Amino acid sequence: MTQSTFQLVRGDILHFLDDPDDAETAGGYQYFADGGLLLENGRVLRCGPWREVVAAAPAATPCSDHTGHLILPGLVDTHIHYPQTDIIASPGRNLLDWLERYAFPAERQFADAAWASEVAGFFCDELLRNGTTTALVFGTVHPQSVDAFFEVAQRRGLRMVAGKVMMDRHCPDFLADTPQSSYDDSKRLIDAWHGVDRLEYAITPRFAITSSDAQMAVAAALAGEHPDMMIHSHLAENMAEVAWVKELFPGSRSYLDVYDRYGLLRPRAVYAHCIHLDASDRQRMAESGATAAFCPTSNLFLGSGLFDLGEALAAGMQVGIATDVGGGSSFSMLRTLAAAYQVAQLKGTLLPSLRAFYLATLGGARALGMDHAIGNFQPGQEADFIVLDPDCTPLLARRMACAETLEERLFLWLTLGDDRAVKATYIMGEARWRRP
Ligand code: GUN
Ligand code: ZN
Repeated sequence: MTQSTFQLVRGDILHFLDDPDDAETAGGYQYFADGGLLLENGRVLRCGPWREVVAAAPAATPCSDHTGHLILPGLVDTHIHYPQTDIIASPGRNLLDWLERYAFPAERQFADAAWASEVAGFFCDELLRNGTTTALVFGTVHPQSVDAFFEVAQRRGLRMVAGKVMMDRHCPDFLADTPQSSYDDSKRLIDAWHGVDRLEYAITPRFAITSSDAQMAVAAALAGEHPDMMIHSHLAENMAEVAWVKELFPGSRSYLDVYDRYGLLRPRAVYAHCIHLDASDRQRMAESGATAAFCPTSNLFLGSGLFDLGEALAAGMQVGIATDVGGGSSFSMLRTLAAAYQVAQLKGTLLPSLRAFYLATLGGARALGMDHAIGNFQPGQEADFIVLDPDCTPLLARRMACAETLEERLFLWLTLGDDRAVKATYIMGEARWRRP
């Protein structure tokens, strides 16, 4: 019989049990100033006030002491492109121009498995440096890009979801697959990786513009063969894109309806952007259980528009927060929450700091259908967590000194914080990143 390994973690602990801004679940979070986590074999055994947790620990259990720092569940990025790491901060006139000019040429390089592996390594380390422990990730059209990503994520023990891009038209020839090859390659990757360690596969048609009817039917077939598998795509990001989809699919009521007709709306289907939706679309998304990944830095950077968080939540839509690197301008979920706050302001919606941190942790886990395993510190959960430093810059330290409440402190991390605020990132109880 193998022996259990126990660990203690000490610090100010915050985690969510539900959406803290939902009147029906008032509260929704637990906060322990001087709290503790007791871990067994990388999973949470107990979370509470330090004195109670330490009393429950076996004698001589080792302790990671982060007193004076905030311990949070790892951050969840619900939409990101690892092959676009090297084109972050490339200016484009709009989405379609940016795709042609930067994204497609950059993605061509991922035919080379060694290249893909090197970028995937940098990408995963950058996520860890920023406190992101789980992400829903686009590969490229090349299946080897996904093998490389999963190998790298597996070595780091990360809980990650990724898929091969399906794209058979309206793209350069060097990036085009076919309906049959996209089916065969996806199947091979599913067999090789889905459910291995902490990895999951996502069926990944790029967007309606770049998949023919025949390829959309293949995506639908894969979805039918794997009813619990994640589906990952883009939706209603840019007005010119929406107009083009209308031309390509004249029989559909809306852009959302294109995916709906192929049976691609369901729980664990994640659509990035969802800016240009009408009330019927929002209602349909909510009833289908699909998720909108709100990508505020990307939407500002590419001039795509302002996601309506208030309307989305009021309609009952599931919403996650996402960086969308490389259209997005930062790997940091803190920078992304700051942009989300500002975009919500412009739409007349206040995003309270507790709700923002909920969306980046338990809310993200729910959006990906992973809240049974990650997102908070309930007993049995996998112990992916981060340590936030209140003194990481002179300004943050000065401003923190006059913050009185948890909400104020969270708002300062959100508004003034970035990768510098992440003192450490733990994966299944193991420190995988420590700020030097
Ligand atoms: N729509 C289709 N592909 C992409 C992409 O790579 N980035 C963004 N932001 N939108 C897309
Ligand atoms: Zn994207």
